[in-house]
Amino acid sequence: MVSTQIEVMKEPLKDSGSINVIKSRSKLNYLILVLAVLIGAGSIYYSNLVVNQLKDREREQVQLFAKTLETIANDNSEFNDNVMLLFEEIVVANETIPVIVTHKDGAPKIHKNVSIPLDLNTGEITTYLKQEVEEMRAQYPPIVIANKNDEGEIFNYEYIFYKNSFLLTQLQYYPYVQLSVIAVFFILSYLAFSYSRTAEQNRVWVGLAKETAHQLGTPLSSLMAWLEYLKSDPELEHSDITRELGKDIKKLELITNRFSSIGSVPVLQKENIFNVIQSSVNYLQTRISSKVKINLHLECDEAIAEINKPLFDWVIENLCKNAVDAMGGVGAIDIYVQRSAEGKIIVDISDTGKGIPKNLLAQIFHPGFTTKKRGWGLGLTLVKRIVENYHKGKIFIKSSELNVGTTFRIILNGTAALSASKAG
Ligand SMILES: Nc1ncnc2c1ncn2[C@@H]1O[C@H](COP(=O)(O)OP(=O)(O)OP(=O)(O)O)[C@@H](O)[C@H]1O
Ligand SMILES: [Mg+2]
Repeated sequence: MVSTQIEVMKEPLKDSGSINVIKSRSKLNYLILVLAVLIGAGSIYYSNLVVNQLKDREREQVQLFAKTLETIANDNSEFNDNVMLLFEEIVVANETIPVIVTHKDGAPKIHKNVSIPLDLNTGEITTYLKQEVEEMRAQYPPIVIANKNDEGEIFNYEYIFYKNSFLLTQLQYYPYVQLSVIAVFFILSYLAFSYSRTAEQNRVWVGLAKETAHQLGTPLSSLMAWLEYLKSDPELEHSDITRELGKDIKKLELITNRFSSIGSVPVLQKENIFNVIQSSVNYLQTRISSKVKINLHLECDEAIAEINKPLFDWVIENLCKNAVDAMGGVGAIDIYVQRSAEGKIIVDISDTGKGIPKNLLAQIFHPGFTTKKRGWGLGLTLVKRIVENYHKGKIFIKSSELNVGTTFRIILNGTAALSASKAG
């Protein structure tokens, strides 16, 4: 009766489309990422366009400057004063582009918009300007001014060196700086958001588990008292009723124990992992399909780690149940226990099931992700939580091949031999 009610409750939820929610969430993430890249690329492209236009204008301005200089140098007519005026206008008008005019031998002649440190003497200023010239040469080739005599023959050259104005330089780097600031802001916001989401999830898990354990506690104590009462009747003491009732009470105790452990800071104790898994397997073997064989292999001398037994049992149970589902109730589960060179305890759980498609691997541990008609998608979330949050270990899919099988790997922090802790 009770189980029928639970099935009825599970039925409507299976259509909630949790897998679709996860799929559309990851699609939304991709969309946001693509949009962010497009916006970033677009803004860099546009500002490059502006920078290039500004570069052209600055070059034109320097060329005009050069032409004016050339005209002054070569024109001895009465228009010279006017040209001089024009030159002044052009030179004065240029408030931004750093320009240095040099003699043929490279010695600086005039300069404009070059910020020279105030504490330099004349000799040092020349050296400074020469360094600037080299910097300018690296940016743009100089514009040559040809000095001609009255016959129009070239008798001397001068060079105009220039570089990007400060405004142009700023504009060139601005989009990168702006995008970096925005990216840092988004990363920080994302971290803060995910931290608060994790904290919220933790509160829900802990609260729900504590409440469940608490709620189960009262009827459980009452059932235990009833069992004792029934056992006091000599006719019922060894009857099927008391035996089956006793088994169910044990199972309820186990569930309450698990919920109360996950709802509080779990007590970790040194355990022989092989023995713990062995007792889990013995328990499970009788409850799963008889066509599934669970084999346990110990590949080291002793595998000791600090664990919370009720919670670790839950991990093994969830992984084995998933394996049984993946094999459709027929196949083998092989559990290997070994110790790494660094002393970590490694537990591999392999099945001969249908495997996990590559595109689903990243979502397998997400809460609510399920491919089963009657799954909640919570088993692996719980497993990951128990292994990583409560035991500071690791769990991941070591390998998975379609229609061949899947291997989950658990890594626990191993400890010294069990006897040492007992002695301590
Ligand atoms: N050994 C496995 N082989 C193949 N697929 C697996 C295996 N273990 C898990 N999966 C996939 O991962 C999904 C999520 O597993 P998880 O245990 O979290 O939820 P569930 O088994 O679907 O539901 P429940 O909450 O009842 O455990 C499963 O639906 C299944 O598609
Ligand atoms: Mg499961």
